[in-house]
Amino acid sequence: MNDDLILSTDTSEALISRPQMNQDIGLGRGAYVSTYGCQMNVNDTERMNTLLEMANFTIVATPQEASLIIINACSIREKPVHKVYSEVGSYRKLKDKNPLLKIGVGGCVGQQEKENLIKTQPMIDFVFGTDNIDTLPQIIAEVYSENKKVVNAKFEHRAPYHIETLVRNPGVSTFVNITKGCDNFCSFCVVPFTRGREKSRPMSHILMDVRNMVKRGAKEVTLLGQNVNSYKSEGEADFADLLEKVSKETDIERIRYTTSHPKDFNEKLMHVMAQNQHKICEYVHLPFQSGSSRILDRMNRGYTREEYISKIQTMKKLIPNLVLSSDIIVGFPGETEEDFLQTISLVEELQFETIYAFMYSPRPLTKAAKFEDQVEESVKNERLNRLFDAHEKMAFALVKKYEGQTLQVLVEKKNEQGKLYGRSTQNKSVHFLGSESLIGQTVPVKITQAFPNNMRGELVQ
Ligand code: 5AD
Ligand code: SF4
Repeated sequence: MNDDLILSTDTSEALISRPQMNQDIGLGRGAYVSTYGCQMNVNDTERMNTLLEMANFTIVATPQEASLIIINACSIREKPVHKVYSEVGSYRKLKDKNPLLKIGVGGCVGQQEKENLIKTQPMIDFVFGTDNIDTLPQIIAEVYSENKKVVNAKFEHRAPYHIETLVRNPGVSTFVNITKGCDNFCSFCVVPFTRGREKSRPMSHILMDVRNMVKRGAKEVTLLGQNVNSYKSEGEADFADLLEKVSKETDIERIRYTTSHPKDFNEKLMHVMAQNQHKICEYVHLPFQSGSSRILDRMNRGYTREEYISKIQTMKKLIPNLVLSSDIIVGFPGETEEDFLQTISLVEELQFETIYAFMYSPRPLTKAAKFEDQVEESVKNERLNRLFDAHEKMAFALVKKYEGQTLQVLVEKKNEQGKLYGRSTQNKSVHFLGSESLIGQTVPVKITQAFPNNMRGELVQ
């Protein structure tokens, strides 16, 4: 077992649980986790890597060096199961060469497909669900010692959400989960089925984690959940209360959060953001999904176009330098040309600097997959391209305003070109020349060239 791995400095809070690792399962062998998906999945991979190190595996950079390969796969949009099978197939030669090589599948695909994965692809040795990551060491121990196939993909419905954030190296900017699961059942979305019912962590646990991350050098934390705005702590504290506490009662320098839901984004939260702007970044990712109220209703989103606009207007009054981004779906069942044009017009009306747009993809178990008026792939594709074109035209002009401005940039790392890389409070990626000793510091950078996705600048001495 790897005793050097000091995960946090304080776990004194009652009931916060750190998985016990009293077995040397890994014997120093290589483990490789292949990840695709959202930030939640990336964060889950970090948890897996930490647990694997605790069980004395060495995390390696390529599957060729590994005796254990885990595929942590997202199922939100693509055809993920095929992707998993083809990745597993690509390991055939490695498995033939190394009979000790074990292959597992986790994440949303593991949750959804369970034992089907092993039945269809016998090269897979184990499957685990989104709620079972902490049992990974036990699963692997069984797979190795008893040489059997293991499937653990049950939701822990009754267990409280009392986990400790596990990261090997928080770096400058890190993530802390505050909720898991989702109860919203948007008609297009598989998450309520792959991540289960929504649960919130107690506020005291989150505060303790943030303080621990600060002790370990983090300057920025992103509070993470499928729908952070419906956070509810045991003492009835809501997300605005949590955000205020993290701002006032920890020494973290910057706070971000994702993802927000427009239906639960309330004025109390806007005021907390406005009053704590020295810490809470003025950037909000608030997915509107469609600009047409008719489609929003079919999506079961719980707000209209007008209500969304009104919330943004209030927010912009309270936080004038607010920067917004959104997820957008095109080609949702029944979306007409008129509905689609309303989506383009909303992007233009609210001046989104960044958008993440996707073609609708029917997901198993979801209501919209059964709608009869599915839109043709070619139409979805054409709409997606038109949306990107319209946005690009607008965004290039929009971000020009940053040229000549001095932004406060938290330096995260040196990039491949030897420049420093960091983000401004508005979440703009900025590249500039400077000494590596500035990593971890917030410095003023004058923007010389601004593009929608990144910017170049000069350090203000
Ligand atoms: N098809 C296309 N996009 C989807 N998203 C979620 N489910 C689907 C789907 N079935 C998008 C939404 C969500 C983002 C994470 O992924 O825009 O906000
Ligand atoms: Fe999916 Fe809607 Fe929940 Fe977001 S809020 S995870 S889109 S069901």
